Amino acid sequence: MSTTYAVPATHRGPELAGQTVVVIGGSAGIGLETARLARTEGADVILTGRNPDRLDRAAAEVGALRSAAFDATDQDALDRFLEELPTPIDHVMVTAGRPYYALLADIDIEQARRSLDEHLWLPIAVARHAVNSVRPGGTLLFVSGTGARRPAPGLAIIGMGTAALPALTANLALELAPVRVNLIAPGFVDTPLSASLLGDDLDKRRDQLRASLPIRRVVGPADVAALAVHIMTNTALTGATYDIDGGQQLLSGS
Ligand SMILES: NC(=O)c1ccc[n+]([C@@H]2O[C@H](COP(=O)([O-])OP(=O)(O)OC[C@H]3O[C@@H](n4cnc5c(N)ncnc54)[C@H](OP(=O)(O)O)[C@@H]3O)[C@@H](O)[C@H]2O)c1
Repeated sequence: MSTTYAVPATHRGPELAGQTVVVIGGSAGIGLETARLARTEGADVILTGRNPDRLDRAAAEVGALRSAAFDATDQDALDRFLEELPTPIDHVMVTAGRPYYALLADIDIEQARRSLDEHLWLPIAVARHAVNSVRPGGTLLFVSGTGARRPAPGLAIIGMGTAALPALTANLALELAPVRVNLIAPGFVDTPLSASLLGDDLDKRRDQLRASLPIRRVVGPADVAALAVHIMTNTALTGATYDIDGGQQLLSGS
C-alpha cells in the first residue's frame, strides 16, 4: 500500500507584508538589523535613535516610513512620539540602551538611574501606550541579556534589569492581551555597542568566543533580527524570554 503526502509549498510570501514595525533604538546594531529584515519581509518601519545623523543614514538605507531623533528616556519626547504614531501599529521593538557596570562603591547614581530608565522604565512607558496603538495579536518586544544572570562584582545594576525584565514581560503579556509581549535575551552580539564597550579588545573577544562557544562562531545582529521577526510573526508566542547566546551561558566564566 502506498501513501501519498502533500508536497509542502517551498515558496512563502513576505511575512510582514502590510505591517508596521516601530524600532525604538533602530539606527544601529540589533535594532537596525531587525528593521532591515522587517523591510525585506514587507513591513513599513519607523526608527528612532538619539544621534540624528546616524538615524538619517539608517532611515535612508532601509527606506523607513519615518524616523524621529530623541532620547527615549525623555518621557515627554517619548509620549509625543508614541501619540503621533500612525495607528494601528503591528509591532514595537525596544532596543535602546546600554549596560552599566560598576562596583557598589563606584556606582554613579545618575548613570545607574539612567540605565534603569532605559532598561526598566522605558519598556513600561512603551507598554502603557501599546494599549491604544498596537493591534490585537501584534507584539511588544523588549531586549535584555544573559550576561548578568550569574552574579559577579560590578553587575548589581545590570543584574537588576536582567532579573526584572522576564517578570515584567510575563505580567504585561497577561495585562495587554491580546497584544503579545516577549523578551529577547542575547549574550555577546557583535554590534557597535560591543565594539564601543570592548575597544581594542574586540578582536580578542571574537576569537575567544569562536573558540569556546558551542556554535563555534560569534552571534551577530542578523541572528537576533531573525529571532525578533519570528516572534513578530508567530502568534503562539507571548509572555516568554528567548535566549540567544550561542550557548555562552553554558560555559563557566564567559
Ligand atoms: N550587543 C550585545 O552584546 C548585547 C548583549 C545583550 C544585550 N544587549 C542589549 O541590546 C540592546 C541593543 O544593543 P545593540 O548592541 O544593538 O546596541 P547599539 O549597537 O549601541 O544600538 C543601540 C541603538 O539604540 C539607540 N539608543 C541607545 N540609547 C538610546 C536612547 N536612550 N534613546 C534612544 N535611542 C537610543 C542607538 O542610537 P543612538 O546612540 O544614536 O541613540 C542605536 O540605534 C541594548 O539594550 C543592549 O543593552 C546587547
